[in-house]
Amino acid sequence: MEFQFISVALLLLLQPSNLLALDNGLALTPPMGWLAWERYACDIDCTNDPDSCINEKLFMDMADHMASHGFRNLGYEFINIDDCWATKMRDDKGMLQADPVRFPNGIKALADYVHSKGLKLGIYGDLGSHTCGGYPGSLGYVEKDAKTFADWGVDMLKLDGCYASEADYETGYPEMSKALNATGRPIVFSCSWPAYIKTPNYTRIAEVCNLWRNYDDINDSWDSVLGIITHYAQNQDQFQPFAAPGQWNDPDMLIIGDFGLSLEQQKAQMAMWAIFAAPLFMSNDLRKLPKESKDILQNKEVIAINQDKMGKQGRLIASSITKHSGQRKSPEVTNMVFARPLDGGDLAVAMLNTGHFSGPHNITVSFKDAGVSWSKASVRDVMNGMDLGMFTDSFSAPVNPTGVRLVRLTPAK
Ligand code: GAL
Repeated sequence: MEFQFISVALLLLLQPSNLLALDNGLALTPPMGWLAWERYACDIDCTNDPDSCINEKLFMDMADHMASHGFRNLGYEFINIDDCWATKMRDDKGMLQADPVRFPNGIKALADYVHSKGLKLGIYGDLGSHTCGGYPGSLGYVEKDAKTFADWGVDMLKLDGCYASEADYETGYPEMSKALNATGRPIVFSCSWPAYIKTPNYTRIAEVCNLWRNYDDINDSWDSVLGIITHYAQNQDQFQPFAAPGQWNDPDMLIIGDFGLSLEQQKAQMAMWAIFAAPLFMSNDLRKLPKESKDILQNKEVIAINQDKMGKQGRLIASSITKHSGQRKSPEVTNMVFARPLDGGDLAVAMLNTGHFSGPHNITVSFKDAGVSWSKASVRDVMNGMDLGMFTDSFSAPVNPTGVRLVRLTPAK
């Protein structure tokens, strides 16, 4: 008995970081699912917007569609609530409570419903005094809220950082991480920590969170998508090395199937999120999803790159600015080439044309720039499901304006 006690105590001492930090065995590949915020924001007007307000029906509808329209079977498993689900005040026991009009059956019943569809439920909170939308935050209630979420059967928590100080981030994220672990329920932990501070300590963040937002909120526009891609390209040394199984950089939601992106741009977002090993959370109306958008979101070969089990995030390996003749102001067309090594030795490459002017132009990827040891590879266009042949030293292809060519290179034997 005494020996057992000592060996348990020894084990505890030997693994301090595992027990205090996040070692929950979750999100070994980037999590996939659906998240309400970009498309539905804080619409709580269910009288005028019955189909697009934040209520239990919205999440049940999305769960139904994820399960019955092929998404679940491809790995999209989370249905995630964002802000504005709660009442403005805690109950008299200090507990968070769902808005009783919009969630008449409560979050536990919603979780049961989502689970009955073979899916998982995510919820949103904030480590400050209030959420960004002004609902109660977890400051002073961390353990209580972690327990509440676990009791409700929640499978993922996005913890935002509004109404908090820099010191609150340092303590609040680790505390919630520990409190979630202590519930004994597997709960994927999504943090907004780095998005709120100037020089994030990614070593620490990766010990505490399964995924973390690095940058501004996405909105329904190509400018926003390109802004995020550019931020990732320019700051890759800061955070790219920290992506790995169980710990992911999160460039924010997929807006494929919404209003702001052309078809080319939707493909570009999907391709880039695959290269970035990004969590794939759609924020769209699955009930009215255009067929072409669904095809992009359900492209198995692109998903396979995103979900590659080695979990290495891709990097910018080359970029160039081309003066475009024939326009009065000589607009510039910028090429960016990103590469991501895959399990088994293949290489995924995204060739991005960020220009808006005239037709497609050629982008070249040099195998040397990609840092690989081989010089001959077969090339497959994964977005379009086409083998393009064997290439030596480099590969070139025309890429449409604000579009991408996503290829998979397999070294010749
Ligand atoms: C923002 C966050 C968004 C969304 C929103 C809710 O800070 O980045 O993704 O969660 O708060 O109010």
